[in-house]
Parts: sequence; structure tokens; C-alpha cells
Amino acid sequence: MRARAVPRYDIPYVNLPAQADEQMPELAAIFEKVVRRGSFVGAGAEIERLEARLAEYCGTREAVALNSGTDALFLALKVAGIGPGDEVITPPNSFVASTAVIVHLGARPVFVDVLADQNIDPAAVERAITSRTRAIMPVHLTGRVCRMDRIMDIAERHDLIVIEDAAQSIGSMFQGRKSGSFGHFGCFSAHPLKNLNAMGDAGFVTTNDTVAAARMRRLRTHGMADRETVDEWGFVSRMDVLHAAILDYRLDKLPDVIAKRRENAALYQRLLKHEKIFVPPCRQDEFNTFHTFVIQAERRDDLQRHLRSIGIKTAIHYPLPIHLQPAAASLGYRKGDFPATESQADRILTLPVNQYMSAQDVEAVAGEVLAFYGV
Ligand SMILES: Cc1ncc(COP(=O)(O)O)c(C=O)c1O
Repeated sequence: MRARAVPRYDIPYVNLPAQADEQMPELAAIFEKVVRRGSFVGAGAEIERLEARLAEYCGTREAVALNSGTDALFLALKVAGIGPGDEVITPPNSFVASTAVIVHLGARPVFVDVLADQNIDPAAVERAITSRTRAIMPVHLTGRVCRMDRIMDIAERHDLIVIEDAAQSIGSMFQGRKSGSFGHFGCFSAHPLKNLNAMGDAGFVTTNDTVAAARMRRLRTHGMADRETVDEWGFVSRMDVLHAAILDYRLDKLPDVIAKRRENAALYQRLLKHEKIFVPPCRQDEFNTFHTFVIQAERRDDLQRHLRSIGIKTAIHYPLPIHLQPAAASLGYRKGDFPATESQADRILTLPVNQYMSAQDVEAVAGEVLAFYGV
């Protein structure tokens, strides 16, 4: 039998140069306008316009533009009053920022395990509630919204605050409602690798609480109520005007970005049918925007090495769960505490799903994954 000749590809995981090619004239015009006016930080027309549009897009009364998804989480927890002695329930398979902000406020992250689709298990949330629990922070990982009906029900019954880590899920929906509109706060990232991306760090919080939004607007600029008055000690967490202008422009493109990523994901889902690969199916009641397309596969490291060797870039989100990170040692968790999270960490592989991939690219990646398993 003749060995199959393996072709060479050049399929990047993200394709920011393609985005630059597509948008350069408009980006240059935005850059020139902002630079010539010379107003780079602080509230202004671009910030206000973006905030109004983001709130409308997400279906909330308010959106507060900030410098990152991390500060969005931090300020949401802070205005929610989370502090020393409080417990916040969250999954251990997120990006480290969701746990770090809890620790920085002096509160305790209480991890609970996840379901097969990598999102927090509502039943485990309920079991973890103690007299010190103040908040639940579900993470809509990969662009898939958690089971927010059950989480909001638990929160209401136990009088808990819900802070959605929606960093990866702009535009995603559950039962027809947008992520970031279920809880008291929705915290988004507009990091360059997100579906709505700035050209540096940026993020925002959504909320229906106008008082909390006003406080976050003060806290993001040193706690200042105006140029002379400092209401409380604050931070430098505001969004740069340049990023706001870029995000305002790119918000118009977001529906197309999401549509293309969903198309690529649907093709993967059709093609990647094999006993050694698990692809979390889409539920009827969800609208996933596929910030990432994550499969769970046997011999994951070998598969990733093989794909890399033939020019297909992949990633792992995330190889070491947060409870096993050196920084988490003082929290007292051990290997074995979260079996689903830990076994997924050994099996997950993020395939490229970006909006600049053609159907042929997706077919090539899926074909090579299957070929690796001898199909
Ligand atoms: C789940 C999650 N939470 C929080 C963050 C933090 O967002 P940022 O990088 O904008 O600070 C990210 C971004 O990578 C994320 O993916």
C-alpha cells in the first residue's frame, strides 16, 4: 500500500494580517481623525457612542467602556461589593483573569467542575453554596453561553449576584437572549484575538443597573466625579478613544464575522465524526459565536504536533486548569478535585475557525485530523 502524501498548508490560527488588508483604508481614516483631534483618553463622543451601541447590541440599559476584560471583571465585582470573606463560585477551566480578580478583591474563588461542553455545571454550583457565597461567575467559554436559566434560578433562590464572564461570547445567545444580559453584570473583552477586537487591550461591562454603571465610570478614571472631586480611590481602567473608534467601526462587521465563524464551525461539526474525537454538539436553545472551536481528542499532543508539522496552527485553551496553577497553591486545591476539567485539559484542542478561512481550509483541517486517526 502506498503511503498517503501529506500536503503542506499555511493555515494560521488567527489571521490579523487578513483583517488589516480588509480594513486598512477605514482604519487609517479613523487613526487620522483621532490623532489630528488629539483627544486620546477620558470620556468623549466616541466613548459615549460606543457605549450606547454596545448596550443596545447586548440588550442591556448600560455599557461601560473599559481598558480590558480583566478590569471589566474587577470593577463589576468591586461595585457588587465583593470583598474579604466572600466566596465567588466559578469554574477552574477559564482564562486566569476570572480567578485573579476575585483574589485581588480579597475574596475566595470557589471552583466547581464543568459539563462535557466545558461550561460550569449548575448542579455543582448549587452544591458549593455556603453562608459566605456572595456571587456566581459563570464563564461562557468558547462563545457558548452557560445554562443561564438554571444559574439565574439558583442565584435568585439564594440571593446571589451573577457576574457573567462574557469575554469570549459577544453576540452569543441562550434562549434568544444575548450573553451579558442575564446577570447583574456582563464582562466582555475586546482583546485583539476576540471576535470584536481592538488593536490593543479593551473591554466593557454591560448592566441594567444605572447607579452601578455611573460608579464604574467614576472608578475607571481615578474615582473622579469631575475634574476637582475624587469620590473614592479609583483606577485607570478607561478605554482609549482610538480603541473606541475602532470598535465602533468593527461593531458593524460583527454579524458577518459571527456568521462566517458559525459556517466554519458547522462544517467542522459535519465532518469531524469519529470515535476518537468529541465535538460538543450545539443545543437547540443556544446560538454559539465560536470565539474558539474546541474538540476533545485522544493523543491530543501528538495530533497538535502533527498538524503543526504540516502547517496547520492550533491552540490549547487551557492546558493547565487554574486550580493547579502555582499561583493557586494557597487556595488548597489538588489534582483530582475537578475530574471533568482535568480530563478535558488533556484532550482539548482548539482548531482554527477564523472568519478568513475558506470552506476548503476547514475541509483540509478536518481531513488532516481524521487522517491522523487513520480515516
Ligand atoms: C474567559 C476570559 N476571561 C477574561 C479574559 C480577560 O480579558 P482581557 O484579556 O481583555 O483582559 C479573557 C481574555 O482573554 C477571557 O478569555
